[in-house]
Amino acid sequence: MKFKKKILGIGAGYVGAPTMAMIAYKCPDYKVTVVDINHERIAAWNSDHLPIYEPGLEEIITKTRGRNLFFSSDVEGQIRENDIIFVCVNTPTKTFGAGAGMAADLQYWEKTARQILDNAESSKIVVEKSTLPIKTALAMERILSSGKGKIKFDVLSSPEFMAEGTAVCDLEYPDRVLVGSRETKSGLAARAELVKIFSRWVPPEKIITSNVWSAELSKLVSNAFLAQRVSSINSISALCEKTDADISEVAYAVGMDTRIGAKFLKAGVGFGGSCFKKDILNLVYLCGYYGLPEVASYWESVVRMNEYQQNRFVATILNAMFNTLAGKKICILGFAFKADTGDTRESPAINITRKLLAEHAEVVISDPKALANARIDLADDGGKISFVENPYQAAAGCHALAVLTDWELYRKLDYRKIFNSMVKPAFLFDGRNIIDHHKCFEIGFNVFPIGKPALSRL
Ligand code: NAD
Ligand code: UGA
Repeated sequence: MKFKKKILGIGAGYVGAPTMAMIAYKCPDYKVTVVDINHERIAAWNSDHLPIYEPGLEEIITKTRGRNLFFSSDVEGQIRENDIIFVCVNTPTKTFGAGAGMAADLQYWEKTARQILDNAESSKIVVEKSTLPIKTALAMERILSSGKGKIKFDVLSSPEFMAEGTAVCDLEYPDRVLVGSRETKSGLAARAELVKIFSRWVPPEKIITSNVWSAELSKLVSNAFLAQRVSSINSISALCEKTDADISEVAYAVGMDTRIGAKFLKAGVGFGGSCFKKDILNLVYLCGYYGLPEVASYWESVVRMNEYQQNRFVATILNAMFNTLAGKKICILGFAFKADTGDTRESPAINITRKLLAEHAEVVISDPKALANARIDLADDGGKISFVENPYQAAAGCHALAVLTDWELYRKLDYRKIFNSMVKPAFLFDGRNIIDHHKCFEIGFNVFPIGKPALSRL
C-alpha cells in the first residue's frame, strides 16, 4: 500500500508507543514506525505480551500493528525513511556532574539529535515529544545545522500531556494539543504540517499553537501546577489530622469553587511517577540557572512537601504500632505509583517500603500489575520482602495493611475475611483514603486514614 505520509517515533516507551499508536489508529493512510535501541522492548511490542500495561492500548495495537504501525530496532534506517520524526526518548534527572539531582540528563536526547543528523538524506520535521528544558530546541537546531549538507530541519515542540493509566483516552480526547514552532516561514509551515496530523481527530479549538519556547515551558509548568495541587492538599491533610477536620470534606468544599476546581485534590501518600519530581526539579534548576533563587525555592517546596508526606505516613505507622515494627509483618497493598498501571517509577511505595525495612519490619508486597517492577526496584534492598499477588494471601498473618495505590480492587476486598487472617490488634493504614473506614473499624481494625481522625480502640 502507498502511504500518504511516513512518520517516525524514536523511543518506544510509555509515551512513544501509545502516542504513535494513536496516530496510526487515527490516520490509517499514514505509515507510522516506532524505533528503540532497546531490542527487548521492540520484540515485546511485536509480541502478544506488550511491555507496558495501559488500559485500551492492546486493542489499538492489535488493530494497527502490521497494517500501518510498525516497531523496529533499525533506528538509522528509519531516520532515512521518514519525513516527520517524533523524539520520545527518556529525559531523566541527571545523576552525575553539574546539576546532578536536578537538571535533566539530555544524553539520550542528544544522541538522537546526532543520529538524525548523521542519517538524514532529506529534509525533516523533528518534533520534541519528550519533556525538555526550555531552549532545548535551540540546542537541537544547532546540532542539526552543524552538518555539511543542504538538508533542512525544522524543530517543533509538541509536549505530551497524557497520564499513565488513562493514556489512550487522554490521547484520543486530549484537553489540548500544543504545537510550538519558530515563527519563521519554514517554522510556521512545519507547524501547519503537524497541526494537520492532529486535526484528523482533535477538534480545532483544542489544538493550540505558540512559539517554541512557550511550548517547552508550558509542559514543565503544567506538571509543576498539578504536583503543586497534590502537595498543597497533602500539607492540609497534616493539619486535618491535628484538628479533627476531614481532608475529603475540606477538598470537596474547596474544589466546588469553579475557580479552583475539584481535580487533583486527593490527599494520599504523595505523588509518584517518572515525571512530576523530575520536571519540577528541572524547573527549579532552570530558575537557579537564570538567577531566580526565590522562584526556584518556591517550586522546590512542592517536592519537599511530597517527601514530608511519605515520611509522615511511616511515622504514623510507627507511632500507632507502639513505636516498634521490628519483626512485624506489614502488607503493602499496591506498589504502582497510581492505579491502572504497572509503572513503579518514583512510586511512594518504594520509599515507604525502604523505611519500613529500616525499622526491621517484614514487608509483603501485593499489586495486580506492578510486582515485576517492584522486584526490580527492591532487588538490592536487604531485609525480609516477599511478593504475593493475591491480596488475601498477602495479608494473612500480617500485623498491618498499608494501602499505597488506589486500585479499584482494594475497595472491594472482603475485609472481614482479611481481618480474621491477621495478627491482632490489626491495623489498617489507608494511604489513599479508598477503603470504607467505618466499616473496617466495626470489623475490628484500628484504622488510620490520611487527613481524617483515626478510628482506633488503642
Ligand atoms: P521511557 O523510558 O518509558 O521510554 C523512553 C525510550 O526511549 C526507552 O525505551 C529507551 O530505550 C528509548 N531510547 C533512549 N535513547 C534512544 C535512542 N537514542 N534511540 C532510540 N531509542 C532510545 O520514557 P517515557 O515514560 O516514555 O518518557 C519519555 C519522555 O516523555 C520523557 O521526557 C518524559 O518526561 C515524557 N513524558 C512522559 C509521560 C509518561 O506518562 N510517562 C507523559 C508525558 C511526557
Ligand atoms: C502526569 C500528568 O498528569 C500528565 O498530564 C503528564 O503528561 C505526565 O505526568 C507526565 O508528564 O509524565 P502521571 O504521572 O502519569 O501523569 O499520573 P497522574 O495522574 O498525574 O498522577 C501522578 C501522581 O500524583 C500519582 O502518584 C497519583 O497517585 C498522585 N495524585 C494525583 C494524588 O496523590 N492526588 C491527586 O489528586 C492526583
